[in-house]
Amino acid sequence: MRIGKLAKLMNERGFDGALVSPGSNFYYLTGLRIHEAGERPTLLAINADGEFHLLVPSLYENVVRDFPVTFWRDGENPYEKLSAVMGELGIKAGRVLIENTMRADWLIEVMRISSIEPYPLSSLIRELRMRKDREEIKLMEKAARVVDEVFEEILSWDLVGTTEKELALRIELAIRERSDGISFEPIVAGGENGANPHHEPSERKLRKGDMVILDYGARWRGYCSDITRTVALGRPSEKLVEIYEVVKDAQEQAFQAVREGVKAREIDGTARSVIEKAGYGRFFTHRTGHGLGLDVHEEPYIGPDGEVVLENGMTFTIEPGIYVPGLGGVRIEDDVVVKGKGRRLTKAERELIIL
Ligand code: CO
Ligand code: CO
Repeated sequence: MRIGKLAKLMNERGFDGALVSPGSNFYYLTGLRIHEAGERPTLLAINADGEFHLLVPSLYENVVRDFPVTFWRDGENPYEKLSAVMGELGIKAGRVLIENTMRADWLIEVMRISSIEPYPLSSLIRELRMRKDREEIKLMEKAARVVDEVFEEILSWDLVGTTEKELALRIELAIRERSDGISFEPIVAGGENGANPHHEPSERKLRKGDMVILDYGARWRGYCSDITRTVALGRPSEKLVEIYEVVKDAQEQAFQAVREGVKAREIDGTARSVIEKAGYGRFFTHRTGHGLGLDVHEEPYIGPDGEVVLENGMTFTIEPGIYVPGLGGVRIEDDVVVKGKGRRLTKAERELIIL
């Protein structure tokens, strides 16, 4: 069980306890879908012996079953109950891991009722979450299959004359039909808008000659996919075709460089050097990729400072791009798992497609 694994690590590293509020770590540890706790304190408390207890608003009485749990009702003081839970587990003092995204008002109250020394939970749990097990990889394969299918569907649409916003909405619907939802708001960037890597879809209509960046992702049982393809509407300029080929080459070479034992920054370096050699170095303005799992951005980050040594089961994106102001941009992104070498989870066509 994952709580047990975390407790073992806590024990080894001299931590006394952990307090986890809802979010991806909470889901990872409990499997409970309590996404929006809002202002009502909701916490999983764990000690280094692997004992744990939940404090949950009574709203969730029918959701939380088979767990050691204390419910609290509106009108009651949840921190009195939390104090008892922490006392029972012996974690009212000592080095206690705190979920990084815990609301400040909850943490302030926790500090008032205890004398803990807080540390970020991410510093420890990252070691577990970075390596996916077979079950997790299966879920990610499904999330990736969804975005591949959606790309096939996009190719059958008539894109000329559609606004970026309309296309983003259609993509979102196509994702939702096949999955549990989107993993982030789709990005559609046509023509010169493609020069902004995180462009927000606008009222601009797509027209002939545009390169269009499509970046979107699906969620399946909590796990994310994240794909980018750049398609051309009609024959693009020679310059844009050249840029496309450089990005495709950078993406492929970075993918080929993935293997167990290599540092993340070496993957970034491979992509970056292809783009630099082609003379576009200063137009590649972000890291090469990011870890992917329950969060759409998580460790390991594939950037120039990526010191993580790749291990089997790690999953991340490879997404180099070139963005030329006034002209446009190209990005190609796949999701990859390390299995000795790299294996692509997303498999949609990477050759330039002219629609
Ligand atoms: Co993306
Ligand atoms: Co990405």
